[in-house]
Amino acid sequence: MTAVAEETTIVLTTFADAKDAYRSKDLRQSLYDEGEVVMADVLVNLHGDEHRSRRRVENRMFRREVFERYERELFPRVIEQTLAPYRTEGRVDLVHLGHELMLNLAALTAGVDRPAGTAEETGRLYAYMMSFIEGATLAHSTKDKDEQRRVIARALEDWDAEFLAPSIARRRDLLEREAAGEDVDVPSDVLTTLLRHTGELRLPHEVIRREVAFFLLAGAHTSATAFVRSVDHILGWIEAHPEDAGPAAADPLFVQRSVHETVRLNPSSPIGRRRALAPVSLRSGIEIPEGATVVIDLQSVNRDPEVFGADAAAFDPHRTFPPNVAPFGLSFAAGMHVCIGQDLAAGVVQRAGSDPDDHLFGLVTGVVQRMFAARVRRDPDNPPQRDANTQRPYWGSYPVLFGGGE
Ligand code: HEM
Repeated sequence: MTAVAEETTIVLTTFADAKDAYRSKDLRQSLYDEGEVVMADVLVNLHGDEHRSRRRVENRMFRREVFERYERELFPRVIEQTLAPYRTEGRVDLVHLGHELMLNLAALTAGVDRPAGTAEETGRLYAYMMSFIEGATLAHSTKDKDEQRRVIARALEDWDAEFLAPSIARRRDLLEREAAGEDVDVPSDVLTTLLRHTGELRLPHEVIRREVAFFLLAGAHTSATAFVRSVDHILGWIEAHPEDAGPAAADPLFVQRSVHETVRLNPSSPIGRRRALAPVSLRSGIEIPEGATVVIDLQSVNRDPEVFGADAAAFDPHRTFPPNVAPFGLSFAAGMHVCIGQDLAAGVVQRAGSDPDDHLFGLVTGVVQRMFAARVRRDPDNPPQRDANTQRPYWGSYPVLFGGGE
């Protein structure tokens, strides 16, 4: 590896180059290099055989039948419970609601139990999750990073003692009883899936701890930001297109299109990053030397006018796409690390004649639609604010009212 190549950074801005790079097996994940405290040895940081065997095991939980059960039975219950107090109050901060909702949903899929079921317990899990999010996105933090690392490492241990260890104990007991032939209801979640295959994967406890923490944050954070941004985009859209207020409240296919369009314009991470393990030639002729860093500028890629047209940067839920291009662009990546939770979060892409009764809409669509069914609107006295603690474009607060102003 040459010193020059190590310092080389190649930025990819076209859709074709990005897709090509995501698919190259000689380009290794490097987006989370500073986030090791939470991200060391978790799925998205693995490469080659190690990645393949972990992904193969976890794919067993990320299947259509499991998604259907989540979307039709498990999620609606959790969504209604989370929303009830805010509906009564008639107002909520969407940023807080997004994280609370998505935490509740991600805890189910990751396999983190809350035995007491109290608001205080959920509050503590929420604080842990926010700390893990800070850990994973440490590279973009504006705070003292060493101090952050210490605080987050401690949070992982405390979270393990309070939440993970009892969740593991309950699942081990269920799995033993199932193996003994008892008729028990074993949950379909990431932790159970890992425990079922501990022999095959040989994962030390610390890796299980980080993997489950990673699923908690990966599931919650991305979906929570997509939720707030989707509501923001749809509110802006129906101001200019009042004829779409009806579909926003009643047509889940319209809402899903709006969520996909939001995710295209606002990828959860504005860039993907890879390091070249060997020289790589992209089909466009770009040569990537061994050791170079490749930055996939998703913000530009998903607004590539060659693919999305001259108005690619505009939000348009009625936009049409060329064949083989997903409506959310490359916001769920592609290739080996393509998001395992894509269908769970955003549902299945609609085809001509999609039947709403037999369609998966994804959890973000489900919660955004609940907002519009409750006639969500911005709070005229409290305008939304950007988050000042990060260089990334997140909303810090987004106060809304329900009920359309009567
Ligand atoms: C709108 C919501 C979401 C977006 C935009 C999103 C985006 C992404 C992206 C871009 C990647 C690839 C990262 C890279 O290669 O650098 C990824 C991977 C991943 N996502 Fe998501 N994600 C979302 C929701 C979820 C949910 C709900 C879950 C879990 C239930 C999840 C779990 C994962 C996991 C485990 C990986 C790593 C996959 C692997 O490395 O094989 N994501 N996601």
